[in-house]
Amino acid sequence: MRILIKNTNILSMTNEKENIMENINICIEDGKIKHIGEILEHFTPESIIDGRGKLVMPGLINSHTHIAMSLFRNYADDLPFWPWLTEKIWPVEEKLIAEDVYWGSMLSIIEMIQSGTTCFSDMYFFMDETAKAVSESGIRASLARGLMGQSADDLDRINETIQMYKNWNGKADGRITIAAGPHAPYTCSPSYLEKVIELAKEYNMRIHIHLSESKKEIEDSFNNYKKSPIKHVNDIGLFDLPTMAAHCVHLSDEDIDILAEKNVSVLNNPGSNLKLGNGFASIEKLLKKGVNVALGTDGPSSNNNQNMFEELNLASLINKAINGDTTCVPASTALKMATINGARALGLESDIGTIEVGKKADMILIDLNKPHLYPKHNFISAMAYSAQASDVDTVIVDGKILMEKREIKTIDVEKVMYKAEKHAKELVSR
Ligand code: NI
Repeated sequence: MRILIKNTNILSMTNEKENIMENINICIEDGKIKHIGEILEHFTPESIIDGRGKLVMPGLINSHTHIAMSLFRNYADDLPFWPWLTEKIWPVEEKLIAEDVYWGSMLSIIEMIQSGTTCFSDMYFFMDETAKAVSESGIRASLARGLMGQSADDLDRINETIQMYKNWNGKADGRITIAAGPHAPYTCSPSYLEKVIELAKEYNMRIHIHLSESKKEIEDSFNNYKKSPIKHVNDIGLFDLPTMAAHCVHLSDEDIDILAEKNVSVLNNPGSNLKLGNGFASIEKLLKKGVNVALGTDGPSSNNNQNMFEELNLASLINKAINGDTTCVPASTALKMATINGARALGLESDIGTIEVGKKADMILIDLNKPHLYPKHNFISAMAYSAQASDVDTVIVDGKILMEKREIKTIDVEKVMYKAEKHAKELVSR
């Protein structure tokens, strides 16, 4: 599809100064950004978007979530992390059926599109259903079947990952990539992790894992292995593969050195860490060591939304507070974490994460005509500190319009809300 966005403003996120352009045009063709500047002479758009009073920026990338957990939103709250996970979440997850995951995924995809997320990285079960939802909705995703196992012979979930890879990797016009998702060192034995590493090497998959999320996890790791979770998985060889490590809240200086040396991308989830009482990740220290830090919401039952604008605001504010230093995680850094750093974590930085000619047309248009976005002193500060998810007006992924003037084009929103409610209620009483 050929799309012309006329007379707009752009926050491209392409360099240290974030390159802001005003009163400019964008030509989109074959899913890509073909041109930025004057309207091309022979360009015949099928769709024209009036960009006046709008800001075009890269679509936000939610680097860590479990979107189907929207079915458990507001179901188990204000509980400590371990009872929340082991007494409330795991038992109800036992009862999940494939159809639940489809409707839960669709519900979150609507929420993500409406709040400006164009790509997400997920780890869960029944991932065929999430892949179906991604394919139908038009959003982009990296998907991992959550892997847990006590021995190298636990092959069921590993075989599911292979099947997922064969069925979905590179599918939906290349919008889906499949990763290997060992859940965490406390749910995967060393021999099982070795098996996962073998699998990821064979299929050239990235690793998506939870690491050093809670204090208890660190204590247990020292009791079981005499070392931190980060050192433990590094010694097994996990970081020899490109790795996305969610949380990394409780880190020693040695842990940070390992993450930096092994080029591990850290997926920061400030909202979830706060809500589950797990603490504050030392993002400032990681960034200073050159670690790529991306941003995620985590699942909708530990956040309890999929709103990346809230998350990037939190990332900036929390780091200023915990360091007692207002220069920590400035607005531009928080925005990078939510865009290009996310793309880098997913291995997609040559395709998405900035507004540049030749990249895929994954972008959002923010409606600047809102009282809380006046006066227009600084677009970067406005997006990090003032913007609301509801300011997202139009969403384009892979050169297709998924939402225009807040109307979702690819999904029947009413139907999804009805079905998700029904499946959630049936699930908890099953
Ligand atoms: Ni998680």
